[in-house]
Amino acid sequence: MSDIKIKTPEQIEGIRKACRLAADVLDMIGEHVKVGITTEELDNIMNQFILDHGAISACFGYGDPGFPKYTCISLNHVVCHGIPNDKPLKKGDILNIDVTVILDGYYGDNSRMYTAGEVSTLAKRLIDVTHECMMKGIEVVKPGASFREIGQVIQKHAHANHFSVVEDFCGHGVGIEFHEAPLVLHYDSPKVTDVMQEGMIFTIEPMLNVGKYACKVLADGWTVVTRDRSLSAQWEHQILVTATGYEILTLSKL
Ligand code: MF3
Ligand code: CO
Ligand code: CO
Repeated sequence: MSDIKIKTPEQIEGIRKACRLAADVLDMIGEHVKVGITTEELDNIMNQFILDHGAISACFGYGDPGFPKYTCISLNHVVCHGIPNDKPLKKGDILNIDVTVILDGYYGDNSRMYTAGEVSTLAKRLIDVTHECMMKGIEVVKPGASFREIGQVIQKHAHANHFSVVEDFCGHGVGIEFHEAPLVLHYDSPKVTDVMQEGMIFTIEPMLNVGKYACKVLADGWTVVTRDRSLSAQWEHQILVTATGYEILTLSKL
């Protein structure tokens, strides 16, 4: 059994504000995502917005080697932890933008998919099915539910649509720290025995691939790609377990 923190009402209020800002960043950046802009430019626009709202990026300097940018931007066959760079977006690119902020000491973490120009039917379907998987995982959340059920519903929907589910990266408890217990698996495993309680806060952030589920990390120590170079998509919300179910803390206002 992992030691999952139950957040106090005061902590929940602080985490709610951090999540509101993290979602506002993703709302704000949408209109900037276009063919020709570089991911570094997108990263700088988001970092300025975060600073202007009295927060900082949780990503910059995180881990070992320290993450070198303010947000993760993962294109096409990049599964997650893509490092913003000076390459312009091309027509047909699909990208995940993952933003985690620290506001008054509390963490808000979320990500969404964006597209540059017209994208393929397959890419659209991958993006939509991945979003459906995240929402099905969220709908499981209530006191007394098992974390295992999240992985079960996500895996079932992904496989029914002939996509694979990444196993090397998981959702996680979050709020007081960036990555807390528990690990939230997006696939089914009998090893998962944790049960949800009111006041727990965690992310659900499934990654689905068109091809096989296997991933590898590039030499930069961060960029995760599909081994077979197939397209990958991801969505992430931060969720509070309430008395009767769940509250999505990172809803879009758009
Ligand atoms: N935001 C990512 C997550 O969902 C973690 C990014 S760590 C970073 O857990 F260092 F790459 F930013
Ligand atoms: Co996360
Ligand atoms: Co994230």
